Amino acid sequence: MQVIRTVEKMKRVRSGLSRSVGLVATLGGIHVGHTTHMDVIRPQCDTLIGSLFLNPTQFGENEDLSSYPAIEDVDLREFEKHGADIVFAPPVAEVYPKDGSVPVVDPGPVANVLEGLHRPGHFEGVATVVARLFSIIEPHKATFGEKDAQQLRIIRHVVDSLGIDIELIPIPIVRESDGLAVSSRNAYLSSDELSAAVVLFKALMAAAERFSSGERSGDVLRNTMLAVFEDEPLANVEYASVADVDTFLELDEVFDTARALVAVRIGPARLIDNMLLA
Ligand code: PAJ
Repeated sequence: MQVIRTVEKMKRVRSGLSRSVGLVATLGGIHVGHTTHMDVIRPQCDTLIGSLFLNPTQFGENEDLSSYPAIEDVDLREFEKHGADIVFAPPVAEVYPKDGSVPVVDPGPVANVLEGLHRPGHFEGVATVVARLFSIIEPHKATFGEKDAQQLRIIRHVVDSLGIDIELIPIPIVRESDGLAVSSRNAYLSSDELSAAVVLFKALMAAAERFSSGERSGDVLRNTMLAVFEDEPLANVEYASVADVDTFLELDEVFDTARALVAVRIGPARLIDNMLLA
């Protein structure tokens, strides 16, 4: 497995690849959620490229950029174990040269709600770095996780609006045995907090069960989730949403499908999760 640090070298190596190229983009802190992406895309491409880039532009000032739990050696080993041919792991100055030549990419209207409201500038950073990675690596396909459903929707918008020729492969949420969505940020939690964190999954399941038994009111479904969070003293809810699967706008009434989404602070971590109601 080759580790590439510069844009120039990445482009040179890429230009020598004639067959299909797959990309798994990450911030690092590789876990089974990420390795599942590698295992899914590996048989679907000839060259598998991973990226390890802790993108500063998608973190807010008071967020966890400086403490993000990523150890590069460990992450590179995981990529190698799961069949990556190349890992692109550039320093910040390679991705964002000082000459300001990297255009800021508009994440589109879906960035105005939910995560976009609670993390101002986050999706602009994501849209910009993903477009930049796509232009350097030119992958034919790339995986993105449904764990970050709003991010996935925004990346689709970026691909469509810039006319990028790529197949996006959505990856279902990988969960621990108790239902907690696997996340790098789970590493911030004490054992009590980890036990409490299952409340996100419990709240989503409660909404899904109400939905299955015929409930279609957005407010009732949102309140169902809030009631579950009330019973967990360690949980501070940022939002409990029942939103349109495409626009991510809150629904008064669910006609066909919706996505239930939650963001919750538990101890030092801000956790998100979601579930399709269908
Ligand atoms: P990161 O949080 O490292 O996640 C990398 C990819 O793994 C994303 O597509 C994310 O949705 C997916 N992922 C994370 N946890 C998952 C889980 N439990 N199950 C399935 N997939 C999961 O998301 C980012 O990085 C960044 O925003 C990035 C797209 C790399 C741009 O910087």
